[in-house]
Amino acid sequence: MALNVLSVASEAVPLVKTGGLADVVGALPAAVAPYGVAMTTLVPGYPSVMAAIGKARTIHRYDNLLGQPARLVAAKLGEHPLIVLDAPNFFARDGGPYAGPDGKDWADNWRRFAALGRAAADLAGGLVKARRFDLVHAHDWQAAMALAYLRFAPVKDSKPVPSVMTIHNMAFQGYFGREVFKELGLPRSAWKFDGVEYHGGVGMLKAGMEAASVITTVSPTYAQEIRDAEFGMGLEGLVVSRGDRVRGIVNGIDPAEWDPANDRHLSANYTSRTLGKRVANKRALEADFGLEPGDGPLFIVVSRLTWQKGMDVLLEVLDHLVGIGGRLALLGSGDAAMESEFRAAATRHPGKIGVRIGYDEALSHRMQGGGDAILVPSRFEPCGLTQLYGLAYGCVPVVARTGGLADTVIDANLAAREAGTATGIQFSGLDYPTLAAAVSRTVALYHQPDQWKAVQRNGMKADFTWKNSGKVYAELYHELTGPR
Ligand code: ADP
Ligand code: GLC
Repeated sequence: MALNVLSVASEAVPLVKTGGLADVVGALPAAVAPYGVAMTTLVPGYPSVMAAIGKARTIHRYDNLLGQPARLVAAKLGEHPLIVLDAPNFFARDGGPYAGPDGKDWADNWRRFAALGRAAADLAGGLVKARRFDLVHAHDWQAAMALAYLRFAPVKDSKPVPSVMTIHNMAFQGYFGREVFKELGLPRSAWKFDGVEYHGGVGMLKAGMEAASVITTVSPTYAQEIRDAEFGMGLEGLVVSRGDRVRGIVNGIDPAEWDPANDRHLSANYTSRTLGKRVANKRALEADFGLEPGDGPLFIVVSRLTWQKGMDVLLEVLDHLVGIGGRLALLGSGDAAMESEFRAAATRHPGKIGVRIGYDEALSHRMQGGGDAILVPSRFEPCGLTQLYGLAYGCVPVVARTGGLADTVIDANLAAREAGTATGIQFSGLDYPTLAAAVSRTVALYHQPDQWKAVQRNGMKADFTWKNSGKVYAELYHELTGPR
């Protein structure tokens, strides 16, 4: 019999997405299915989710879940089971999953995501008779309270279940004032330094990390990095103390969504043997962004515009990039000041820099399919998915050597080129000289067409689908549930 795993998260493709978390949560059920795991996903019922699932069956009604009425409804995430927490007072709001239309975080986020955690713990405790779970897998702070409830306030007489806490980004920890503690419905015993208490307040990610059977993060290098203060962001001590209970499992990409041979968004589909066809996509992209054709590479960026992503340093390097014959098409949104600086750069370099502020899934595919190189100059990057899409699409990644970027891209130094293993450009330490030098190296390599093509092909042949990591997650679930 398959192992029943409940995966809990605040986003999942194709229902709701603000970043890579959604890609991963959406792909995981299919990734682990071949290895004897039946995964059910639990997500909040935001308007986009309720609209997508249509009329769905109610499997439980709450009169009072963290102060509000709610129900659990059963639906499908692709081929796989989905449970939606429909709590209109928490989730039926205009704006994003975490913030209102004004960009400010919802003031009751602690209550909204505690409710998600409570529902998950109830399901794992047998709340709905027909649905039994052997393990709970929580993603990021928004799901982490599930593990605190399982530990300190499980369903009465329920059998304990093992758990996995995956950290997709240590920068987001779900930290709230101590006054929220009494509203969470946890016993006083949970208020301790190795419970939910954190620096005098409530630390939701921390509480999940304390309670989890195993903590994972989304690349081996990031799993090492978060042992230090720079990347651990206050939780490094806890990471170190959990020893070999912390593992790094690199994300994969979903070939049903990301495959240049079958991508419905592209003007021309292609494989590593028909790279020449990419030129049609490139011309379409130039037209889309109002760029003049040129001899140098067309760089792309698809990113949140934030400090984490190194977008401030990229802004400094743009004049150099254009000066040596590069062009740039950028799609992103985020920090308002950065958005206007990128717009200003486009005005300064007409025909050379094109900027689209916003979120556009289809355009992001067309950019990977037509751009020559994707820039990912992150200060830290737990895994990163856009460089993986770049590899699969022959859009050569130019990345900072950190986290998952370090684990997934092989720098085109002389040795790697001779060995035929190079897949991109890496640089160490993010500042103007290193990023400018990496851009220069990219332009130089691009002007050696045979070398460039070899790097593109190597990247396209590298296998970053879920085959490997799906198996690793499944093995972890089996290890934690033991012989049955
Ligand atoms: P993070 O989750 O930290 O933002 P990732 O690289 O893991 O970084 O994932 C980002 C995901 O969001 C990718 O699927 C990327 O293509 C997508 N994305 C980011 N910004 C945009 C945007 N403006 N429009 C469309 N897709 C975007
Ligand atoms: C986070 C990280 C990113 C990672 C994604 C999915 O958003 O910032 O590096 O790829 O989660 O795990």
